Amino acid sequence: MLAARLLPLLIVALGFTSVSAQSYNNNLDFNSTCSSISSQIPSIVPNASNVTSQLVLAGTNLTFPNSAPSCNRPSQVVEADICRVVMNVGTSDRSGIRFEAWFPREWSGRFLSTGNGGLGGCIQYEDMAYGSLLGFATVGANNGHDGDTGAPFLNNSEVLKDYAFRSLHTGVVIGKNLTHTFYGSPHNKSYYLGCSTGGREGLKSVQDFPEDFDGIVAGAPAADFNNLIAWMGHFLNVTGNATAERFLPPAQWISLVHPDVLDQCDEIDGVKDGVIEDPNLCKYDPSGLVCSEGKNQTDGGCVTEAQAEMIKQVFEPFFLQGELAFPRMQPGTENLPIFYTGQMFMYPRDWLQFVVHSDPSFDVNTASDQDWILTRDLDPFNISTWSGDLSVFRDREGKLLTYHGQADDVITPINSERYYERVSETMNLDSTDLDEFYRFFRISGMLHCSGGVGAWEIGQNLAGAGGSIDHLNLDPESNVLMAMVRWVEEGVAPNAVLGTKFVNDTVDEGAQFARKHCKYPLRNTYDGVGDPNLKESWSCECVV
Ligand SMILES: *[C@@H]1O[C@H](CO)[C@@H](O)[C@H](O)[C@H]1NC(C)=O
Ligand SMILES: *[C@@H]1O[C@H](CO)[C@@H](O)[C@H](O)[C@H]1NC(C)=O
Ligand SMILES: *[C@@H]1O[C@H](CO)[C@@H](O)[C@H](O)[C@H]1NC(C)=O
Ligand SMILES: *[C@@H]1O[C@H](CO)[C@@H](O)[C@H](O)[C@H]1NC(C)=O
Ligand SMILES: *[C@@H]1O[C@H](CO)[C@@H](O)[C@H](O)[C@H]1NC(C)=O
Ligand SMILES: *[C@@H]1O[C@H](CO)[C@@H](O)[C@H](O)[C@H]1NC(C)=O
Ligand SMILES: *[C@@H]1O[C@H](CO)[C@@H](O)[C@H](O)[C@H]1NC(C)=O
Ligand SMILES: *[C@@H]1O[C@H](CO)[C@@H](O)[C@H](O)[C@H]1NC(C)=O
Ligand SMILES: *[C@@H]1O[C@H](CO)[C@@H](O)[C@H](O)[C@H]1NC(C)=O
Ligand SMILES: *[C@@H]1O[C@H](CO)[C@@H](O)[C@H](O)[C@H]1NC(C)=O
Ligand SMILES: *[C@@H]1O[C@H](CO)[C@@H](O)[C@H](O)[C@H]1NC(C)=O
Ligand SMILES: *[C@@H]1O[C@H](CO)[C@@H](O)[C@H](O)[C@H]1NC(C)=O
Repeated sequence: MLAARLLPLLIVALGFTSVSAQSYNNNLDFNSTCSSISSQIPSIVPNASNVTSQLVLAGTNLTFPNSAPSCNRPSQVVEADICRVVMNVGTSDRSGIRFEAWFPREWSGRFLSTGNGGLGGCIQYEDMAYGSLLGFATVGANNGHDGDTGAPFLNNSEVLKDYAFRSLHTGVVIGKNLTHTFYGSPHNKSYYLGCSTGGREGLKSVQDFPEDFDGIVAGAPAADFNNLIAWMGHFLNVTGNATAERFLPPAQWISLVHPDVLDQCDEIDGVKDGVIEDPNLCKYDPSGLVCSEGKNQTDGGCVTEAQAEMIKQVFEPFFLQGELAFPRMQPGTENLPIFYTGQMFMYPRDWLQFVVHSDPSFDVNTASDQDWILTRDLDPFNISTWSGDLSVFRDREGKLLTYHGQADDVITPINSERYYERVSETMNLDSTDLDEFYRFFRISGMLHCSGGVGAWEIGQNLAGAGGSIDHLNLDPESNVLMAMVRWVEEGVAPNAVLGTKFVNDTVDEGAQFARKHCKYPLRNTYDGVGDPNLKESWSCECVV
């Protein structure tokens, strides 16, 4: 019923004229340009090799037989007619990127670069499909190596340099040139869309390559990268391995701790819906889980004093040498206990072995604060991505939109608040001043980049924009990429981001609820009387 009421509000906004794609040049012989461009490329792109171009018609299911299995991207349905250009580009005598440009037949005049994830190593074909469907000349690169692994960094700082910043920037320079070459006129505005490592790449551009983009959408950024890696790794020290007395098996994080967190914190916002609207307000205390008479393993389970102490520790900030290194994990994320398995998570493991110690046999089980201090201080190629001075980007009227799921179990969303505060302090600007070029939205109930119990569909990728061409939601009120286009091209900045939760995350099953996510530092606040599934029952309140 509710779904039937909400759905009309969410219907595809393809009619939104100023951002809809239009054919740039009807006379362009798209097919023949596509076949001839590959022969031109070696003379215009330095260090290009193995260049191919291929006309791909809408509906084609492209397969990538050579894609690394850890990229988990064996195929992609292309939703619009494109010319797909693929090449290798050397970045040094012992490094290079694999680069793709997807030029849509129906070009909007806009340029878009996609980003990467984790320690990848992976072209995000789903984002290439999304961008080109929306009419952007869209590029992506493999970040200098193949696969979601740190192994190629071993004793090769050039590959690390590509990962830290050079792959993305190189792809942008080449991509803009090829866009001009292909269509015969330069792009009008350039955009960036990425999340996680892709979010970090977006911030890197704002900080160090402020000319690259007019508008940047950076989700869940892996900013303060070195401390983030250390934080991910330090949980092993907190939880102990599977033989430690304090260790709690992942199954019990899910069956015991998560429900207890929700009991204590779900209704702080006034609504029992599994969404902790602002997890900063959750002061979780696991002591109620401790075994006692009348509370034992047979009736629902319980934990020992040592386990309860460990659980408390998990939700504490991470300090190194007495200083905050990284903010706490937010409660509400423990149903995805990826860091509490008793083994070190893959990214800090790889980083210690292939970057910090240059020794694949380094035993990560012995990792101590000393290793995390080394990790923090090494900071190859300024990969920390933590500069708070965005003045060059601001002065050339660039726009930055960041968002972060409040139920993110991979990168604590507090880190995005911290970066916002850092920029505010560095540039001596309050949030009203920052509004001019930098806005941050907290997406309640969203996991890492997408998914979750909250209203997480915000157009951050194809899955978050309805999932398919039949359901595409391009309304700038509820699509962060289109919100950025409107901000850059019409000067209309987003004040909130309308998210949608579909029943079983399936658009055909209708909307379960919608919620307007607030611009930081405002907090989304329930009015206490209205239907909590309606966005009108919530408002963005100033809480400081
Ligand atoms: C372009 O190529 C496609 C696929 O080969 C073909 O279907 C289409 O007719 C061609 N268009 C023109 C204008 O040649
Ligand atoms: C070009 O492709 C060939 C065959 O796939 C491959 O052996 C070669 O390494 C590639 N060259 C570069 C520079 O990537
Ligand atoms: C695309 O092709 C791959 C490999 O053949 C297949 O596994 C996948 O299901 C196909 N995708 C769709 C949407 O048909
Ligand atoms: C091309 O490769 C050379 C070395 O192989 C490198 O020095 C140069 O920076 C590369 N040029 C570009 C534009 O990447
Ligand atoms: C760029 O914008 C101008 C002005 O809006 C427009 O006339 C032109 O066609 C656009 N160029 C492209 C390549 O879309
Ligand atoms: C990497 O470099 C270290 C010294 O920095 C050396 O001990 C090690 O053997 C090298 N490993 C490989 C695989 O080249
Ligand atoms: C592309 O780059 C090449 C080499 O730097 C340059 O000669 C050419 O003018 C550029 N083309 C465009 C359209 O920017
Ligand atoms: C678990 O940790 C203990 C104590 O630190 C250590 O002695 C043991 O070797 C570890 N076990 C594994 C499988 O790593
Ligand atoms: C566990 O609790 C139940 C009821 O709360 C009780 O009947 C049972 O004896 C307890 N078992 C142990 C081992 O304490
Ligand atoms: C964590 O590592 C430190 C050394 O950095 C060590 O003193 C401490 O005992 C470790 N804590 C646990 C719970 O293993
Ligand atoms: C890192 O950034 C600082 C200041 O932003 C700069 O001075 C330094 O040269 C950079 N280092 C590298 C390796 O890029
Ligand atoms: C949602 O999916 C679950 C199984 O994944 C199913 O049990 C449930 O009936 C579905 N709900 C609706 C409303 O379709």
